[in-house]
Amino acid sequence: MLQEKKAIGVFDSGVGGLTVVRALRERLPRENIVYFGDTARVPYGTKSRNTIEQFSGQIVEFLLEQQVKVLVIACNTIAAVAGTKIRQMAGKMPVIDVIGAGAEAAIAASTTGKIGVIATSTTVNSKAYPKAIEERKHLWQDKFAVCRVFSEACSVLVPLIEEGWLDNEVTRLALREYLPPLLQEKIDTLILGCTHYPLIKPLLAEEAKGINLVDSSTTTAEAVYRVLWEKNLLNNQEEKPDYRFFVSDIPLRFRAIGEQFLQFPLEQLEMISL
Ligand code: DGL
Repeated sequence: MLQEKKAIGVFDSGVGGLTVVRALRERLPRENIVYFGDTARVPYGTKSRNTIEQFSGQIVEFLLEQQVKVLVIACNTIAAVAGTKIRQMAGKMPVIDVIGAGAEAAIAASTTGKIGVIATSTTVNSKAYPKAIEERKHLWQDKFAVCRVFSEACSVLVPLIEEGWLDNEVTRLALREYLPPLLQEKIDTLILGCTHYPLIKPLLAEEAKGINLVDSSTTTAEAVYRVLWEKNLLNNQEEKPDYRFFVSDIPLRFRAIGEQFLQFPLEQLEMISL
């Protein structure tokens, strides 16, 4: 198969990474996509590094068998703790992850250098976002003398969002627990460091008024576009793109929840065990 016609391989711990597929489809409408969501073993956000490395290694093996041309780690938690292992497995294949893309977008958006992050406990404990921002000092050192990152683990948001409680008072109250410590630090930019959070962007905009919200799904899609362009891997074919979705379980309401994340029908959905 022609190199550029190969699919973009996207993966996540479950359904959340479909927000990244949605953004990829908007930014790169001619690209074929293969998605894997580990719905049988989600959530990853409370699991240990070893377990996440082991599970994501299995996912990467599967996607490499599908002959993808680029790997997209759509899950913040996987990117936070297993990114190095995944890059080793991928060899020369480009690997884009939500954390690098989110860190760069936050640096570009911030004017004061005070950046907030909301994410799962594992992502927050890994300090992956502060590290990614520090590693990109060359991007901010001319803009602000210091860059400070304040993080908050928001454990209850994933189940609330999967319940479909997007514009809901319970979700609003949860945000009112999590956001004040960040707001007190006078952050001007907030990274939505979890696949699920773009779905509650309107609520976040109300509860964190005037703060730049960095949506990792759109920034990741932009980063994928850039790497495909640089490597001459963009698919310029006119034919209808192919989207294939693989999951390790099809739980109750999966299709309905998935389509809410994706905003288009989940047509080619298949269950496989790794
Ligand atoms: N996909 C995960 C993330 O972005 C959230 C769900 C989970 O905990 O597995 O961090």
